[in-house]
Amino acid sequence: MTQPFYVTTPIYYVNDVPHLGHAYTTIVADALARCHQMMGDDVRYLTGTDEHGQKIAEVAAKRGVTPQQHCDEVAPRFLDTWRELGLGFGDAAAAHGFRRDFIRTTEPRHTAVVRKLWEAIRARRPDDLYLATYQGWYCVGCEAFYTESQLKAGATAGEWLCTTHEKPVAWVDKETSYFFKLSAYAEPLLAHIEAHPEFIQPEQYRNEVVSFLKGGLKDLSVSRTSFTWGIPVPDDPAHPGEAARHVMYVWFDALTNYLSNLGDPFASPPTPAVATYWPSVVHVIGKDILRFHAVYWPAFLLAAGLPLPRTVLCHGWWSIGGRKISKSIPATRVYPTILAGDLAGASSVPATGVDALRYFLLRETPLGNDGDLIYEGLIERYNADLANDLGNLINRSLTMLVRFGGGGVGARDEARAATGPHAALATVAAAAIKDAQAAFTAFAPSRGLEAVWRLVREANTYIAATEPWTLAKDPAKKPELDHVLHTLAAALWWTRLAIAPVLPATALALDGWLGAGVAEKDARWPDAAAFGRDVPALTPTASTPLFPRIDAARTAELIGKWLPPEPTAAVAAPVEAAAAAPAPVAPLAPTIAYEDFAKIDLRVGLVIAAEPVPKAKKLLKLTVDLGEARHRTIVAGIAEAFTAAALPGQRVLVVANLAPRELRGVTSEGMILAAGDDAILALGTITAAAPPGTRVK
Ligand code: MSP
Repeated sequence: MTQPFYVTTPIYYVNDVPHLGHAYTTIVADALARCHQMMGDDVRYLTGTDEHGQKIAEVAAKRGVTPQQHCDEVAPRFLDTWRELGLGFGDAAAAHGFRRDFIRTTEPRHTAVVRKLWEAIRARRPDDLYLATYQGWYCVGCEAFYTESQLKAGATAGEWLCTTHEKPVAWVDKETSYFFKLSAYAEPLLAHIEAHPEFIQPEQYRNEVVSFLKGGLKDLSVSRTSFTWGIPVPDDPAHPGEAARHVMYVWFDALTNYLSNLGDPFASPPTPAVATYWPSVVHVIGKDILRFHAVYWPAFLLAAGLPLPRTVLCHGWWSIGGRKISKSIPATRVYPTILAGDLAGASSVPATGVDALRYFLLRETPLGNDGDLIYEGLIERYNADLANDLGNLINRSLTMLVRFGGGGVGARDEARAATGPHAALATVAAAAIKDAQAAFTAFAPSRGLEAVWRLVREANTYIAATEPWTLAKDPAKKPELDHVLHTLAAALWWTRLAIAPVLPATALALDGWLGAGVAEKDARWPDAAAFGRDVPALTPTASTPLFPRIDAARTAELIGKWLPPEPTAAVAAPVEAAAAAPAPVAPLAPTIAYEDFAKIDLRVGLVIAAEPVPKAKKLLKLTVDLGEARHRTIVAGIAEAFTAAALPGQRVLVVANLAPRELRGVTSEGMILAAGDDAILALGTITAAAPPGTRVK
């Protein structure tokens, strides 16, 4: 029976262009959507942009444009990136067989529903929204209030840092605000979680929320008066004139996008899209926004008398070199379209670059865990699983079908199917399809792909065991050859179906070569009991290279390009460049003679250790190997851009003959080269592993 399946991504802040972390959430949700579509569900997919709040107002002000102008410029970048990554909207979505929506929180269809939600809470539970004075810490990056116990101490006295952004939080001093009585909802939420084990997944996050709730909840400030970029609070008859000063807290506004795109949740009779899809919703989110989705959002819904989402599905963070990929740390910015383009390399089907990236992200780390992006690992997996296992299977099978099948796919022989390698393949294939389905629907795509690859590998083994090229030499073996070819076609057909949720472009290419003629929207997950009996009419043709092997030279070239992972100016910088006040390029210093330059002894240094310098917010003390008998101590003003933990192992460029100098009580024996200042700093480095002490000229 057709079941609705509604999956959402978080809506992204438009202070950034999409990086790999954003792409991960979006791809996970897309793979789940495609999977459920193939399993016959009525699927709906939602993503969008989060456009109100202090953070966006500040970015726009810095750029000298209105917040609305800023949002209108940046929101399309998200749409463009998703399109480039094969997540089309409109007609393209129709081809995928399900509806994709993109919502912006500045759209009237959204703001109207947010105001209705506020009014519904006030009407149902008048005491749940009350006026009071707020004071406390606020992280503009998270758009969240924090208590000191949720922060960590900064380098200077009285300074507190947000643990996600590692940046100082701001003190909000006595601002009048509407509060939401969150404290009343700890018990109802605990009861809901207890009764609905599927509500927060995976389990480690359910436990986290349960212990957070057991600690009790404080009421939440849900409006602001110190800026105006938000949805105005609806008139408050109890306090005439007051509401006009307030805009809603951006999370109250943003979370409501999940409902507003469906229509009015309070309409009578119910809005059909709300009635159909809302009960099935799965919110895919990153762990940094768990509290908002698993505590605040359901509390707002309970207060308004609306049903809670079915599942909040939480994933971990991708990091690089141990640091979370994020906009605020320039050296961690990794751009999915660049990686996908490079992975496509010499493939005859460029869209398989995106597939390779999707495959790596979903296969490498079980959903819920953190993952460290190691480029060597990405290429190893590409070579082993895609170039070798999958690429070879497609290429070899199609070659044999074309060469020995005479334009068809042979014929199945029931008696033979129950014997030897034929039966072995059928058994593995059936188990793989069953396990993959169970894993995908249990939100475990890594396990699902691992199961699919059991089918892929067994099909390769089958070719080696049956040797169709040997059978083809003996006319008496024609019936056996026919059966082998048919079985191979069956395995390829299942492979085409089973890879489709994660590798949609590859599935389509395979579809074309098989001549299956099944529209993407009509492809259905196979019935595990039907192996060999569900092969559609096929007219195989030879394939062209899909996942060409990445050899050692190309690996070095790619990693050299990707590391350090700063974006190239053309791809990633536009928002950045615009967001930073357009700084004039500093005038050049007077020309010097070569002899002057030659006086500077530049060396490659290997950072051995790094630690903060007490009471100096910008300084790190580095221990650097310059190939000398003794390591040097170098003090560098890079602490706002790099954490100490990120530096050991990095090769830096050092001015090695600079006279020692005392900085905050530490003698610095050299200087490391860096570009930019404060938080937007890039280290001078080298792409090859030159030994410490190598002269730089
Ligand atoms: N606007 C809010 C969400 C509102 S939803 C009602 C927001 N936006 S965000 O742009 O900062 O982040 C969106 C998503 O990207 C989050 O799920 C976050 O976890 C994810 N990621 C951002 N960086 C990430 C990694 N480095 N790794 C994995 N996902 C990460 O939060």
